[in-house]
Amino acid sequence: MIGKDIHIAKFFLEKSDLVAIPTETVYGLAGNAFDLQAVSKIFAAKNRPTFDPLIVHTHHISQIEQFVSDFPPKAQILAQHFWAGALTLLLPKKDIIADLVTAGLPTVAVRIPQHPLTLSLLKSLPFPLAAPSANPFGYISPTTAQHVADQLGEKIPYILDGGTCQVGIESTIVGFEGDTTIVYRLGGVSVEAIEQVVGSVLVKTHSSSNPNAPGRLESHYAPRKPLYLSQEIFGEFAPEEIGVLCFSEYISNIPQKNQQMLSPKRDFLEAAQNLFSMMRLLDAMPIRAILAELLPEESLGRAINDRLRRASAKQIKSV
Ligand code: TXA
Ligand code: MG
Repeated sequence: MIGKDIHIAKFFLEKSDLVAIPTETVYGLAGNAFDLQAVSKIFAAKNRPTFDPLIVHTHHISQIEQFVSDFPPKAQILAQHFWAGALTLLLPKKDIIADLVTAGLPTVAVRIPQHPLTLSLLKSLPFPLAAPSANPFGYISPTTAQHVADQLGEKIPYILDGGTCQVGIESTIVGFEGDTTIVYRLGGVSVEAIEQVVGSVLVKTHSSSNPNAPGRLESHYAPRKPLYLSQEIFGEFAPEEIGVLCFSEYISNIPQKNQQMLSPKRDFLEAAQNLFSMMRLLDAMPIRAILAELLPEESLGRAINDRLRRASAKQIKSV
């Protein structure tokens, strides 16, 4: 069921059921973060391996003290600047957060999302919400309630509809190693914006399919059709079999009806907003392969390119 009623969402969450929630980045598949039964249901519904930990969502910094054992000054500065918003912080966890939530890691990922409906829901609950993106594992993240319904509708009792996600790509994940600030996942807050607040950071988003490096799985965010980043696609497919995801100009030798343009005015925010829904549109078109154009490596262009590279890394055969 899709609706806008936070009382219904609360009802299901309080009895260990799952609810899809809107955030400014992507839709999340939420359950009570303090309840193992609910957390187990999240992994099952997404078909997600338990070595991939979850983000815990709250509405206020005061609630975070309940479940993290340290909140270092640099983390607090970042929180002040970017929350509510597309930033996730890795902080040492307290025992109330089960190992299942963090895949056995000593840190828990925490975020205050910026969406009025979800913030009201979080305020009405006595517990925080564990929520990964509300897509089957490895597939493109959902940016509308309908995207969630298309893929997980049968598996969850309620989808809270908050419209189209304004940021459109997942949060930036930031942690700390000694004095160094590390970006583990590029996302909705740019590296440049973070560096303006806390000085230089190290970006450690190198891909790996190693379970010891959760959050950095190489093949991810992928459509079902093969996605290419280079012209080598032309050797394998005829022009009418190819769909294109371009930045601001159509590619000349492919039919225009097969092309999706991220931002005619070359605006990174608009491109990020459109990214996942256009990937879904291309996946549903009568074409056999997708050619995606990389954006300039700056600002949100970097995060968008990260998603495109992961989508091209290896194809998910079934989800
Ligand atoms: O924007 C977002 O972050 C969305 C919305 C719903 O909040 N959530 C999201 O969750 O993208 P998910 O589960 O799809 O991606 C979270 C990433 C995973 O790749 C996971 O491995 C990483 O965060 N992660 C979670 N806890 C971690 C931890 N303690 N250490 C390192 N990585 C962690
Ligand atoms: Mg995800």
